[in-house]
Amino acid sequence: MPLYHKLGKIPSKRHTIFKKQDGSLHYEQLFGTIGFDGMSSLMYHLHRPTMVKEVGKSFEVSPKAMVSHNIKSRLLKGFEVKPMNDYLESRSVMLFNSDVHISLAAPKKSLTDYFYKNADADELLFVHKGTGVLKTMLGEIRFEYGDYLVIPRGMIYQITFDTEENRLLIAESYHPIYTPKRYRNWFGQHLEHSPFCERDFKLPQNLQTYDELGDFVIKVKKQGQLHHLVYASHPFDVVGWDGYNYPYGFSIHNFEPITGRVHQPPPVHQTFETSAFVVCSFVPRLYDYHPQSIPAPYNHSNIDSDEVLYYVDGDFMSRKNIDKGYISLHPAGIPHGPHPGTYEASIGKSKTEELAVMIDTFRPLQLTKAALDVDDGKYFQSWLE
Ligand SMILES: [Fe+2]
Repeated sequence: MPLYHKLGKIPSKRHTIFKKQDGSLHYEQLFGTIGFDGMSSLMYHLHRPTMVKEVGKSFEVSPKAMVSHNIKSRLLKGFEVKPMNDYLESRSVMLFNSDVHISLAAPKKSLTDYFYKNADADELLFVHKGTGVLKTMLGEIRFEYGDYLVIPRGMIYQITFDTEENRLLIAESYHPIYTPKRYRNWFGQHLEHSPFCERDFKLPQNLQTYDELGDFVIKVKKQGQLHHLVYASHPFDVVGWDGYNYPYGFSIHNFEPITGRVHQPPPVHQTFETSAFVVCSFVPRLYDYHPQSIPAPYNHSNIDSDEVLYYVDGDFMSRKNIDKGYISLHPAGIPHGPHPGTYEASIGKSKTEELAVMIDTFRPLQLTKAALDVDDGKYFQSWLE
């Protein structure tokens, strides 16, 4: 996150004496990425963040490929993924490669009786249904329908939901997630042509500090396993922090679409980037205004990336028989485009209400059994007249 933020109490100078009320020292921790080269935050704990009491069982959670060489366009009915009580168990990987795991989740219960840390991947949560609070070591972020939540790797968190009706799209990224470089100047500030800016971000607030000793279970995801560790102090014992590496939110409803006289290519919808995939937001917008324009996209050969589109709301202009929560997958290697009739039908239309999240991966995606269970099986032939 290219934006400095701080919460709570911190010493005026880093790496200097910072005493608690009883005269003992706080425990400083550097929380950074890319060695000491990436973004980092400095946090101040009441207790040592290193007090492992027990290392319990580990569970295999890496996804298994049912289709590892996919050439078919697919349509997955995402809302058919079954709701489950536990947050982590509810997360069902549908599509994956070594760069990103794309999951759907319908958690019914809040995650409150343990803590969770993904040690390998940044997590990008898109909230399709539900409201609640993301609780982290560095503060809280209240979320609602349409929010992206970016949680950097290593961040310990819990998540609470206001009701049992929740639907999430989750991308676990094995490369850091940033806002696109081309939206930012060389100081990191978002430029005037960026479809969003610093003011739109939801930064952590309401830092709660727990001075508790006991048994605290942290489930740590690392190398495809979920390790159960017991710590001797509450992980949310931070009294203050500052820096650039922290979780944040951004509402898709604050993405300001870029439009033109003729059809604009997908990069104008880009919201996040990594070195291995991009995330785009398709939002309600006015259509192209050249008198001869065709608003629906042209057929295109996505020879360099698998295209995943997650349908959130509205009528999707270029597709037929699409419902909320559906995922389409257009694999690299074969062209795709608007469905028969939609190209023509788009002419003369002035606006669209479509809302969708696109994830384009630069390496091919594999499909899990969970994906095949909700695959409509015939989408690849849906362009035949
Ligand atoms: Fe496409």
